[in-house]
Amino acid sequence: MCSIIGCIGRLNVAPVLVESLKRMEYRGYDSVGIATIDNGRISTRKGVGRVADVDKSLNLIMMPGQIGIGHTRWATHGGVTDKNAHPHYGCRAEIAVVHNGIVENYKELKEELVHLGHEFKSDTDSEVIAHLLEQYYAEQKDGTQAIIKTCKRLKGTYAFVAAFEDGTLGGSRYDEPLIIGPVEDGYFISSDILGFLPYTDKAIFLDNKDIVVVDRHRLKLYDSDGNPVNRPVTQVAWELAAIDKGKFTHHTLKEIHEQPHTIMIAATQNREKINDFCRILLDSKTIYFTGSGTSYHSALVAKHILARFAKIRAESIMSSEFQYALDSLDSSSVLVAISQSGETADVLQSVKTAKQMGAKILSIVNIPTSSLARISDSFLSIDCGPEVGVAATKSFTGQLSLLYSVVDRLCNGRVDYEAGKLELVDAINDVLASETEIEKVADRIRDAKDIYIMGRSIHYPIALEGALKIKELAYIHAEGIAAGELKHGPLALIDKNSIVVIINPRDGTFDDNIASAHEIKARGATIIGVSDEPNDVYDIFVRIPSVRDALYPLLEVVPFQILAYYLALRKSVDPDYPRNLAKSVTVK
Ligand code: M6R
Repeated sequence: MCSIIGCIGRLNVAPVLVESLKRMEYRGYDSVGIATIDNGRISTRKGVGRVADVDKSLNLIMMPGQIGIGHTRWATHGGVTDKNAHPHYGCRAEIAVVHNGIVENYKELKEELVHLGHEFKSDTDSEVIAHLLEQYYAEQKDGTQAIIKTCKRLKGTYAFVAAFEDGTLGGSRYDEPLIIGPVEDGYFISSDILGFLPYTDKAIFLDNKDIVVVDRHRLKLYDSDGNPVNRPVTQVAWELAAIDKGKFTHHTLKEIHEQPHTIMIAATQNREKINDFCRILLDSKTIYFTGSGTSYHSALVAKHILARFAKIRAESIMSSEFQYALDSLDSSSVLVAISQSGETADVLQSVKTAKQMGAKILSIVNIPTSSLARISDSFLSIDCGPEVGVAATKSFTGQLSLLYSVVDRLCNGRVDYEAGKLELVDAINDVLASETEIEKVADRIRDAKDIYIMGRSIHYPIALEGALKIKELAYIHAEGIAAGELKHGPLALIDKNSIVVIINPRDGTFDDNIASAHEIKARGATIIGVSDEPNDVYDIFVRIPSVRDALYPLLEVVPFQILAYYLALRKSVDPDYPRNLAKSVTVK
């Protein structure tokens, strides 16, 4: 949720840290801070706001020194204030700390430290790490020992980097990522490879509880008891650094427009890897899909197409609920975890629990070096490039494209996705070409207080996804409803102020939807039809091309992405960075 970066090198470090934080800002963007070490003195500047704004007001890039740490925050404990922004110190300015995660036992630790005379300046859980380090460092003046002792006291999840005034950087992780980027004249320590990717394509992924200590010349890694350990150097893909907006005004719009390309990429998998993936699925007795948010909606579509084409039953459970639904999970089960980032805490927790129960783990990720990919028995990557916009767009259609390819293999080509994906590319291009029409729809409904989105069968997950996009980007209450459920309750909400969007391509659900639309119209609501076939019942019609039935989810989601994007603009909201959210939700 937060991003952390440490850097030790020969360059002036502050501009490097600021650029790194901008690249990782998707992880959290409440507040920003930097600490640099110059002539044995640590200085800090921090404040509330986006990296560029805080840099402008505090001149972060002018901070002197070749060693430093930086942080962007997504608040968990303590409000969004300057004093709660990282880095944090102990009582003296000898050690500065940036942290990502949640220290669950911070209250007890704080009480103990206050009793020992420590004075706290913030309301965060993170500050206890700085005081613990200070306490243990004072005893032996040994940074490594201070980190080892500190980590043994922490409960919860953490990745932290500390800057010691002697010019060393040290840190550790537990269930939050921390990655080393070795460069010619120093090291990066970061929560994401994007933190250092322009400088090196080599990465060292720390294991849980590993401890890292670096100075300019040496990297030392230890286990939690201080025994030296080695971790391999991994080559990562440079392309991940490509995160400019190109000709688009926002990353979100660019990513929406990339979808014709990314669904093709996601459907192009290494033959051996996809065969291995399918073999594990076929060898299992029970299949579970899990994911959070948008990735959960992919899981719902996956369950549907697996049953329809491969005649295989599966369960889809949202990751935050997974731990309560484990009764039939055992060593003959497989859990397919779907996650763009591969770092979502709820997903990782589900995987850990399933592993403990003996289940096999398959995953679908966008980041092949993510924690999820690394703990899976087999994984496939959608390879859609970095998705910077907090709202998942191209990763969703990428996940679906990959899932359709997998199901196609499981049912000997009955989906005919080889031809299907080409059909989709054309159809999505058509929808993208009608962007200004959809923008006009946004103008007409910009003042809506409530938007209901209805769909049946395979369209229901898209109703949920469409509503999620509108909620998170435009801050309008939106609800996805299974159309057949309307008369069992939701109809009571409908009146002349309601906007109801019906996902209604010409397939087996069409006639029933038209009947529902009339029931809604009789209550005075405005009806928007998303379909390949116009109908008198619609007040507003959003045309999508006809494609074969099973493929509609990948197509019909696109108008909702565009609609949510323009609604956000009409509300003067930055669509790339919606309030209160973060791209990567690494806390439970
Ligand atoms: O990285 P993941 O796919 O695991 O993320 C899961 C959700 O946090 C994510 O899809 C979230 O719901 C998006 N902001 C939705 O647009």
